[in-house]
Amino acid sequence: TRTVVIISGSGSNLQALIDRAEEIGIEICGVISNREDAYGLQRAQRAGIATALVDHRQFDSRESFDATLAETIDGMQAELVILAGFMRILTPEFTRRYEGRMLNIHPSLLPKYRGLHTHKRALEAGEQWHGATIHFVTEELDGGANIIQAPVAINSSDSEETLAARVHGVEHRIYPLAAQWFAEGRLRLQEGRAYLDGAPL
Ligand code: GRF
Repeated sequence: TRTVVIISGSGSNLQALIDRAEEIGIEICGVISNREDAYGLQRAQRAGIATALVDHRQFDSRESFDATLAETIDGMQAELVILAGFMRILTPEFTRRYEGRMLNIHPSLLPKYRGLHTHKRALEAGEQWHGATIHFVTEELDGGANIIQAPVAINSSDSEETLAARVHGVEHRIYPLAAQWFAEGRLRLQEGRAYLDGAPL
């Protein structure tokens, strides 16, 4: 399954996908970043994967940025689009174009803690559980149907950093699994719900 991964930063989730690509049946045909200094671009280059920079600062609207992003994705002939630490809000037109074949990872147990600073917010709220969610991307920010959630227990000694590190650990396990399900043709988005092997998730 031809897969494009879109990043803004470190790309540790990208690395997890690169490391397991063959095993899970995806071919990462390109990595796109909106930031030139994203370390994930180096990870891609090291793995011999084509990279593209689409710098949001060069565009005067979200619409024009998203249009170029879409052209870049389509130029790489992607079947599956994976957002992995991509930190821009996408227009409805863009999300509709890739509906059912675009996934995102979010560092919380959605629908809790959409948006930013999820670890800090979970700690401040005194939660016992936190985690990560893979979901289909729809218009609603961090609001598409969930595919996989991995819980992480919060310890009383946790700081934002220790908690973030454990959440990252589970992220690296669940993203390849979701990508594998997609590649195997087992995952569907239908009327806003996610299905695995025909059964609602
Ligand atoms: C992850 O925590 C992901 O959930 C969030 O951004 C972070 C990306 O980390 N959306 P990395 O760039 O994959 O290391």
